[in-house]
Parts: sequence; structure tokens; C-alpha cells
Amino acid sequence: MKIALASDHGGFALKEAVKNHLQARGFETLDLGTNSEESVDYPAFGKACGEAVVSGQADRGVVCCGTGIGISIAANKVHGVRCALVTNEFMAEMTKMHNDANIIALGGRVLEEAQALKLVDIWLDTEFEGGRHQRRVDMLNEM
Ligand code: RB5
Repeated sequence: MKIALASDHGGFALKEAVKNHLQARGFETLDLGTNSEESVDYPAFGKACGEAVVSGQADRGVVCCGTGIGISIAANKVHGVRCALVTNEFMAEMTKMHNDANIIALGGRVLEEAQALKLVDIWLDTEFEGGRHQRRVDMLNEM
């Protein structure tokens, strides 16, 4: 499975940590930047990750900014993206089980690194439940 990664400067350090963690777990990664802590605009990076996932260039994505909010909004502008901002274990698990989130957003200024990596693992290791949740995901996809 290939996982696309993107961040602005506020999420850069966390994006690098997520990339190292995923590679250590054996996942292929696609790093869409940014590549430093120099100030950049998060919408461009959220869009790039969303497009990579929807086009099939990557199977899933992780986006990071300071709060995770701006870049999640940007990713969700791409049709077909279901990007969830997650801040705790319950949200990481439920957004896979019920929303089949294809991207998660993390806040580099919100989460401790170890906690963020745990959330990534929970999301990746949880199965989508399907059933009535598939109908709702289909409704999202039609919007
Ligand atoms: C950048 O200063 C900050 O606004 C950004 O990383 C993010 O938190 C936006 O939602």
C-alpha cells in the first residue's frame, strides 16, 4: 500500500515522523512536501494529497498542518476525498469503521509525536464496517 504525505510548515516535522514510521512499517510513501519549516500555504498541499489519493497514485493519505484543520478542509475540497481530522484513538478508529476515511489530518502543534503515530496505526489497522455505513459513504461520494 502506498501512502501519500503532505504538510505545510506547521506540520512538517510531524509529516517527516509519520513518513519514517510508515516506512519502518513497510509501507511505500509518496512525499508531496513541504520540505522545510519555511512558511507555505496549506491549501496547495492538502489539494495535492487529495488528488494523489483520488487519482490512484496513492491508496491513502496523511496530511499535517499546525492544527490539522486547514489542510483537512483543503483535502476535502477534492471530490472523492474523505479526510478526517483525528485527535484521539476513538476518532482514528471510528473514522475508518464508519467513514472509510481515505485521508487523515493531524495537527503538528496539537499532538505529541508518539500519539500522532499511534493514531496513524489505529486508522491503518482498522477495517471499514461497510453495511449501513457503505450507504452513507456512497451518499458522501455523490455530493
Ligand atoms: C500556519 O501558521 C497554520 O495556520 C496552519 O498550519 C494550520 O494550522 C491551518 O489550519
